Amino acid sequence: MVGFLETLGARAPIVQAPMAGAAGAALAIAAMRGGAVGSLPCAMLTPEQLAAQVAEVRAAANGPLNLNFFCHRLPEPAPDENAWRALLAPYYAEEGVAPGPPPPLRRPFDDALCAAVEQARPAIVSFHFGLPEASLLARVRGAGALVFGNATTAEEMRWLAARDVDAVIAQGAEAGGHSGWFLGPAHRPTPLAELLAEKIAVPVIAAGGIVDGADIARALSAGASAVQLGTAFLAARESGIAAPFRALLGTRVPTGFTNLFSGREAQGIVNRLMRELGPIRDEVPAFPYGSNALAPLRAHAEADGRGDYSPLWAGTGVARVRAMGAEELVGRLLAELAQARGRA
Ligand SMILES: Cc1cc2nc3c(=O)[nH]c(=O)nc-3n(C[C@H](O)[C@H](O)[C@H](O)COP(=O)(O)O)c2cc1C
Repeated sequence: MVGFLETLGARAPIVQAPMAGAAGAALAIAAMRGGAVGSLPCAMLTPEQLAAQVAEVRAAANGPLNLNFFCHRLPEPAPDENAWRALLAPYYAEEGVAPGPPPPLRRPFDDALCAAVEQARPAIVSFHFGLPEASLLARVRGAGALVFGNATTAEEMRWLAARDVDAVIAQGAEAGGHSGWFLGPAHRPTPLAELLAEKIAVPVIAAGGIVDGADIARALSAGASAVQLGTAFLAARESGIAAPFRALLGTRVPTGFTNLFSGREAQGIVNRLMRELGPIRDEVPAFPYGSNALAPLRAHAEADGRGDYSPLWAGTGVARVRAMGAEELVGRLLAELAQARGRA
């Protein structure tokens, strides 16, 4: 049986999830060599950096490449950060650091990034936090890319399908990283199994808590056309995460949703800041400004081997991930999937 991604040239029904801040070209190359769809997270890249990373991937691997962007709205004016900085003041004092210049802002998909997509002509463009305006979407399609949208509720799945996306990524409550919710007044984490029960007219890519071939087999038999794995690929050699974060992968650690690190709900391993402040605080400036004030604390602690102030984004499958190269991981997943299907 030829699956949806296989018709695009992939050898596995697997998308290596884009993971901004945690992985880049090296992971995409290794995943593509294994036969998965490789993804480049572009939310924090300039158009020039994007072009350079695409060239790096194309020089080293064949197969379908996905470029991933965010479609959030930048709050205008920029939010006041005083209440949040006051809450963090004891940590600045304890660590002996001072507020520094803000890190690069995560920017929504815009004209300049769209022009970079038109140049790069990727097989797939995926969007998190909704879709861009119609004129930009038309240009992406005009460049020959399939459009994937991310949904966190049945309502978002139907909304995206009604806009003729080529596939919907069903991001369950088990998923690591930012929840891409974009409809309704609040974040409503929905288990992946519930999302997969929603039948829509476009292919569904299951995401959240999937780390081995048996998980993939379950998602496919529940109606998904493919799967998207993030946390499983974080443990790969080619991801770019700091040592204290890597050390926690494959161990039994609690995860939870927090807005502390960016201003939007994302799932990660519970760390000191989440424990001491509580995972959700009103004082955090709106996304994407929430990460500014933490940057010097995070850098200082990471240099000291601690992830006390770092987003340790990971899904509920974190204890089961396996450390190996991403190419080998895709091969292992395919073998396990064949075995699980043989048993079914
Ligand atoms: C470290 C990390 C960073 C992520 N960054 C992005 C991103 O930049 N864009 C995006 O669409 N999804 C991002 N995600 C979410 C993934 O696309 C996907 O929904 C999730 O990893 C699936 O759940 P899993 O981690 O349990 O496999 C990220 C996930 C993680 C773990």
